[in-house]
Amino acid sequence: MNISNYKAYISAETMMGPNSARILAELFDKYPISFVPDDIILDLGCGTGLTSLIIAKETGAKVFANDLWVSAEENGKRFAEWGVREQITPVCEDANNLHFPKEQFRALISIDSYHYFAGSKGFFQEKILPFMKDNGVVLIGIPGIKDEYADCSKSLLSDWLGEDAHMFKSPEYWKELIGSSDRIELVKTWEMECFSKAWDDWLTTNNKYALSDRKYFETIIKPYTCFVGIYIKLKEAL
Ligand SMILES: C[S@@+](CC[C@H](N)C(=O)[O-])C[C@H]1O[C@@H](n2cnc3c(N)ncnc32)[C@H](O)[C@@H]1O
Repeated sequence: MNISNYKAYISAETMMGPNSARILAELFDKYPISFVPDDIILDLGCGTGLTSLIIAKETGAKVFANDLWVSAEENGKRFAEWGVREQITPVCEDANNLHFPKEQFRALISIDSYHYFAGSKGFFQEKILPFMKDNGVVLIGIPGIKDEYADCSKSLLSDWLGEDAHMFKSPEYWKELIGSSDRIELVKTWEMECFSKAWDDWLTTNNKYALSDRKYFETIIKPYTCFVGIYIKLKEAL
């Protein structure tokens, strides 16, 4: 994926953290998937919909752009301005209580958001899997803690994250959390390569949250944290 195709859309207004376009690009490059126009992809925790736009353009598939903090109305307006309103459906629901038809998504993609709601065992099987088609694919990129500091999120990250520190889990732990099911063929988790560039893009904006993150980058964020990539492949129909 060529991230420069989306330069015009990546801004302090559309970014809600480290550059989600870079995280998405690494996932697409590592695990290329082919889609047909009738496929439906769920972008879960899509924020301002920057990733939904890129997913729509890169795959040609239909996208459901779901977020909790950003309303469907606000995202719908943005998709209309970007000329992709026909291809992307904005939705505002809690990931813990989704109301989509069962087994409709060919893929689920979630950038910088899955850690907010999915950090308990069984979440994937109970809250996500029922909506996924057989042979479906899941691509997730989230901030986490490096494997070598796995049990130290609270002590190492609290000055920066406060009570949210527990959400930062290691790649190995995320593999355990996703767990198994008779519908899951394969789960892979890894420390992503886009860390420095994605953070650079964010820290050089004047977004007020980026200004605050800047204070902790050298002392906490860079030494202890990473981005965790998660790839899940579902089995074909039994
Ligand atoms: C840091 S933002 C990232 C947004 C976007 N994916 C990106 O990378 O720019 C985290 C997003 O997670 C979403 N989120 C948090 N908890 C959620 C929940 N329970 N259900 C759905 N979305 C949730 C928020 O609405 C927020 O937009």
